[in-house]
Amino acid sequence: MLTNPSQALIRNSKYFQQHSVLALNYEADTFAHQCLEFADNVTALALDYNHHLTLSSCANDKLQCYFGHQLPESLADTKFDSVIIYFPKAKPLMGYLLQLAAQHLNVDGQLIIVGENKGGIKSIAKLTPDYYSQPIKQDNARHCLVYVSYLIQAAPTLSIRDWVSQYSLETPQGTLQICNAVGVFSEKRLDQGTDLLLSHLPDNLRGRVLDFGCGAGVITAALLKANPELTIECIDINAMALLSCELTLAANSMQAKVYPSDGFNQITGKFDGIISNPPFHDGLTSTTDIATQFVQQSAIRLTSNGIWQIVANRHLPYSETIATHFGKVNVVAENNKYKLYLHQR
Ligand SMILES: C[S@@+](CC[C@H](N)C(=O)[O-])C[C@H]1O[C@@H](n2cnc3c(N)ncnc32)[C@H](O)[C@@H]1O
Repeated sequence: MLTNPSQALIRNSKYFQQHSVLALNYEADTFAHQCLEFADNVTALALDYNHHLTLSSCANDKLQCYFGHQLPESLADTKFDSVIIYFPKAKPLMGYLLQLAAQHLNVDGQLIIVGENKGGIKSIAKLTPDYYSQPIKQDNARHCLVYVSYLIQAAPTLSIRDWVSQYSLETPQGTLQICNAVGVFSEKRLDQGTDLLLSHLPDNLRGRVLDFGCGAGVITAALLKANPELTIECIDINAMALLSCELTLAANSMQAKVYPSDGFNQITGKFDGIISNPPFHDGLTSTTDIATQFVQQSAIRLTSNGIWQIVANRHLPYSETIATHFGKVNVVAENNKYKLYLHQR
C-alpha cells in the first residue's frame, strides 16, 4: 500500500521515465521499488528508521537504500537526473532537503516535490532558494500537490554545521551544551516536559540506562553530568535526532552509545534504568498506541530492581497503562501540563 504522496508520484511517473532518481525523506512504503517500473535506477535516503526498514528488504542492483541525514561519503558527489523530495512533517527541514537535493543535481537537473495539502507544501515557493527555478504545480491528487523545479545554478556546498544550532542550557545537573539539527524536537529551547524531568531525575541510577527517544540528547547529557559512570544507550528513529545527540555528547566531552531503533525493535537485553520523554506523535496524528506499546515493552526490558521514569503530557492515558503493566503508578511531580511517572522495582 502506497502513501498518498507516493500515489501522487506514480500518477506523475512521466517526469522520471528512464531517469536515475534520488528519493529523499521517503515514507513508509515501497514506492522507490515500484518506481523502477519507470526509472532506470533509484537511490533512496530515509531520515526515519522505520521508513528505511520498510524499503530496505527490496534493495537490489537498481535500488540502493540508506538511512541517515545524507548519503554515504562514497556517494557525496553522485549526480542524479531527478531528485524527489517528500515534504517533511517538520517544515524547517525542507530548507535542508532542498540544499541536499541540489548537491546531487547538475544544472538543469529536475527536482520533484510532493506533499500532503495539509502538511505545508503550499508554501513551497517561499521556501525554495534562488538556485532553483520557481516550482510549478503539476498535479493535485490524493490530497497531495506535486511540484517540479530545475536547478538553475550550482548551490552552496552543504555543510551540516550550518543546519545545527548550539546553545548553553542551565540544568539542575550543571551547564550543558545542546546541539540541535534542524527539525529535531524542541529545537533551540528545552521542552517543558523535559524540564520537569530534569528537575526530578532519580539520583540512584546505576548500570545500563536507556534514553528512549533521545532527540538532541538533553536527558543523556544531564544524566552523565550527574553521574559519568553510567553506561547509557540513546536511541531514536530520526536521523537528525541521532546526529544531534552525537554532537551534544561531543560538545560536552561525554560518551554514550547512539543508534537507530524503531521503538524497542533494535534494542537488545534489559536495562537498570529507562528514562524518557516518550514520543506521542505518529506523523501528523497523535496516537495513544505509542504510549501503550512503550509502557508494555518497558516493563519487559527493565531489570528486576530497575528504575523507570518518564514525563508525559497529562492528558495522555499513561496511568491506566502503567497500572496494567507495572502494577503501581507513582506520580512524583506534576504541573498543569505534564506528569512525571516513576516506577522502581
Ligand atoms: C518528545 S521527543 C523527546 C526528545 C528528547 N528526549 C527531549 O527530551 O528533548 C520524542 C523523541 O522520540 C523520537 N521517536 C518518535 N517515534 C519513535 C520511535 N518509534 N522509536 C524511537 N524513537 C522515536 C522522536 O524522534 C523524538 O526525538
